Amino acid sequence: MDLLRTKSVEQSIADTDEPEYQLKKSLSALDLTVFGVGVVIGAGIFTLTGRVAHTMTGPAIVLSFVLAAICCALAAMCYAEFAASVPVSGSAYTFSYASLGEFFAWIIGWDLILEMFLGASVVAQGWSAYLGVLLENFGIVIPPQIAYGGMIDLPAVVLVCVLGMLVAVGIKESMRVNMVLVGLKLFIVLFVIVAGLQFINPANYTPFVPEPQATETLTGWTQPLLQALGGAAPMAFGWGGVVAGASLVFFAYIGFDVVATTAEETKRPQRDLPIGIIATLVICTVLYCAVALVVTGMVSYRDLDPAAALANAFVFHGQGWMATLISAGAVAGLTTVVLTLLVGATRIIFAMSRDNLLPMSLAKVHPTHRTPARITAIVTVVCALIAGLTPVGMLEEMVNIGTLSAFVLVSIGIPVLRHKRPDLPRTFKVPFSPVLPIVSALICLYLMLNLSVETWVRFLVWLAIGLLIYFVWSGHHSRVQTGTELPHDLKKALDENH
Ligand code: ALA
Repeated sequence: MDLLRTKSVEQSIADTDEPEYQLKKSLSALDLTVFGVGVVIGAGIFTLTGRVAHTMTGPAIVLSFVLAAICCALAAMCYAEFAASVPVSGSAYTFSYASLGEFFAWIIGWDLILEMFLGASVVAQGWSAYLGVLLENFGIVIPPQIAYGGMIDLPAVVLVCVLGMLVAVGIKESMRVNMVLVGLKLFIVLFVIVAGLQFINPANYTPFVPEPQATETLTGWTQPLLQALGGAAPMAFGWGGVVAGASLVFFAYIGFDVVATTAEETKRPQRDLPIGIIATLVICTVLYCAVALVVTGMVSYRDLDPAAALANAFVFHGQGWMATLISAGAVAGLTTVVLTLLVGATRIIFAMSRDNLLPMSLAKVHPTHRTPARITAIVTVVCALIAGLTPVGMLEEMVNIGTLSAFVLVSIGIPVLRHKRPDLPRTFKVPFSPVLPIVSALICLYLMLNLSVETWVRFLVWLAIGLLIYFVWSGHHSRVQTGTELPHDLKKALDENH
């Protein structure tokens, strides 16, 4: 088995011309930006801001947001260059198949599955939490056993199922729903910033970077790996807290990379993808820093609510109706995040099964809706189960580590692809390659090392399962390995059998 065999860019593009496996090309740069903002602004800013400021950073959380944004901006440039030169479904997975080789592509694909499946599930749980708060304001109480944090989180399950059906019906339709909800979400975030300004008390900004201190929230198991490796006692706050905070609020930026998964459905991918990815990131960075400054200015970080800080900062100032409005906005906002992550999850599996690294029969596209219907069904059921049954707060960091590890490989892939394929048209190029891509990889790695020991252990287990599947099945069945086209007789057989 040749682990470094690559799939040529031309082959990747040619595969998307097979009508049976082809998706509809309908998206513009604006669609992509809406899509991007729709998935990026979500549980991160609505829930993590409070928790991280309260337990890790204090008001310096805004620096964590800046640091995470720098990391994402570098990775985004690498993504944009890749997406512009390899405009096919599958995101980082496809890019790395063309540059680093199949084995790395598999690992990235495996990481992205982690990112998107768990991301969708975690945000669905967050949605359920906000729904509970909102309904309570109207006097409706969901029985605790079937609510957020209960035996089964029924609202989260229902949400994932409804959105899964929407995805199955067609991406353009999902986009329209998305557009309305994204507008609402932007309004709410701007509302927090503008309405919150009047309640800022400058005294809350001191100390800006609180002194490092031992806390109950960090144990040996939950402290950052880097701290544990250095033999230090678990400490929060200080400059170390700012970096550890960045590796957590990184979650809030996750999603701009999902934009790249829709390359195949974009009308002019070479032009629109870089615009969509970079516009998304700029909009979100500005909004996040503003929200972080306003919220930590409204309430001392010591008193911030670690669960629903944005809404409760207004309760703190006696503005109940504003808090209700914000909770309602969060419910709408988190919906789009789950929706987009579900789309991303179906697309990554679609790309992997078209290459027969996952069984090819999955990749068939529905004849009328032209969406990968079987994969959508599987993704929906799995995410609904994870969202419904996993204990709250267990999986966020897993999403971060999965995404960061994919970023590392994407960044390294840029100079490799330039070296291997200098001839490819590149309408967007990362400046100062290979320096910037290497810096990007190093920053991502550094943030990864700031994630907790338990996250690393879980991540390594996930990787081990992925390697097992690759060496037992995928590596032998890969279309690049077996040299098969997307065969017409197989297509026919698939048609007859299913
Ligand atoms: N960035 C997304 C969120 O914050 C995943 O919910």
